[in-house]
Amino acid sequence: MQFEVFTLLPEVFPSYLETSIIKRARERGLINVRVHNIRDYTHDKHHMTDDTPYGGGGGMVMKPEPVFEAIETVLRLNPPQTPAEPASIVPIILLTPQGRVFDQSIAQELSQYPRMVLLCGRYEGIDERIREHLVTDEISIGDYVLTGGELPALILIDAIARLLPEVLGDPTGAQDDSHAMGLLEYPHYTRPPEFRGWKAPDVLLSGDHAKIEKWRREQALLRTFNKRPDMLEKTELTKIDLKFIESLKSGSKR
Ligand code: 6GU
Repeated sequence: MQFEVFTLLPEVFPSYLETSIIKRARERGLINVRVHNIRDYTHDKHHMTDDTPYGGGGGMVMKPEPVFEAIETVLRLNPPQTPAEPASIVPIILLTPQGRVFDQSIAQELSQYPRMVLLCGRYEGIDERIREHLVTDEISIGDYVLTGGELPALILIDAIARLLPEVLGDPTGAQDDSHAMGLLEYPHYTRPPEFRGWKAPDVLLSGDHAKIEKWRREQALLRTFNKRPDMLEKTELTKIDLKFIESLKSGSKR
């Protein structure tokens, strides 16, 4: 998976990309992240990447020329881009609070591409012609406003990378994750069996794998019921799951 990041703050990226799992994925050639400084694609004396908005008002707007030139150069596109062409192969994703809200299913969807562009918006906005004629997708990481798309880009890279086969050391990979199975994950315990008088659940030490599986499933359902009942509406549940949830509603379990 090749990530092409375009930003005015390239210095934000290296430290996170040097952290354990992502670093190992990079070293093993499973992902590659190239960070491109949009400012390198300016030609004026002051390397201007933003300008005042037409029509007045506050703030600055990211200029179109350096952004187009940067992305077209790296992707070797011939401007003007025709939507049926490379764009469909290499998504050009603008990180913006106006985008579709990122979730596990979007991470899954994007993990199918061999290569993608992540364009980090900065300042108060970007020239609309970038959005209209270059960008093919817009993603937000939630309903709050950040100063730029750099942290969102790192979040996408992290969420997508860990879905790639082999990135996680664990052979079961990401399949048991919270959200991947449409439920919050069951609670985990490790040694010691008792800590400050608080015991790990006996069932987990029982060695009875069928019982453990049942307990974990019920715990996942219980947690989701208590913390994120909205998720239960969208996930596939078995008859046994539904019966368990009914028992929660009638108040026999917390
Ligand atoms: Cl992708 N960008 C910015 N600037 N703010 C955000 C966001 C993105 N997602 C949520 N808030």
